[in-house]
Amino acid sequence: MAEVSVTVRRTEKKDLPEIAKINANVFAGDRDNPESAEKWMRCLFNSFPLYQYFVIEVSDTIAGYIGWQFHGGFLRPAPVIELEQIGISKGHQGQGLGPILVEKSIKEVVKWCRENNNRIESHIYLVVWSYAHNFNAMKVYFEQFNEGMMGMRRQHGDRAEIMLRLKIPALLPIR
Ligand SMILES: CC(C)(COP(=O)(O)OP(=O)(O)OC[C@H]1O[C@@H](n2cnc3c(N)ncnc32)[C@H](O)[C@@H]1OP(=O)(O)O)[C@@H](O)C(=O)NCCC(=O)NCCS
Repeated sequence: MAEVSVTVRRTEKKDLPEIAKINANVFAGDRDNPESAEKWMRCLFNSFPLYQYFVIEVSDTIAGYIGWQFHGGFLRPAPVIELEQIGISKGHQGQGLGPILVEKSIKEVVKWCRENNNRIESHIYLVVWSYAHNFNAMKVYFEQFNEGMMGMRRQHGDRAEIMLRLKIPALLPIR
């Protein structure tokens, strides 16, 4: 049997139609309308480095994507980066790809943050807001965002969302 290779890499412009198809398939925001999903995702893609997308490929097929957003400036002493959206295509869900995508992309955004911010006091804060009832997502988030639940809100109608956080030490040399 051919070996299956799993890769996480930064999203390129050419990937937008493919990740838009996944978005339109798994999220309500632009459900069944990949053109509209692509319009939205192109805006975010073009806002790099404010927003940073990554894809996960399984044997050269894009199986999912993740988007991270930097909040409040690039030189914050306590940087905050939000996992804004993760989508794994329906045919690839439940195979452990989400956790790999979260873990590997965290390393990349943290690396970017450290290389571009010389004012970090002590930690980089990674946050995610998730619908409390999205158990599949919660399973993945709770394993990675190990500070646990740090906030609650109702932003989209009446659906409760909770915020989980992960605090990564980022000590810089004395300056
Ligand atoms: C939530 C999501 C990112 C998780 O990624 P994933 O690659 O499926 O993650 P895992 O394979 O580790 O699965 C996590 C859990 O959800 C379950 N699960 C995931 N997809 C499932 C599906 N389609 N049907 C039933 N269970 C599913 C898994 O069985 C696993 O639970 P278990 O370990 O108890 O068996 C992915 O399922 C997804 O894209 N869902 C739709 C979009 C979404 O909700 N995104 C998150 C909000 S931004």
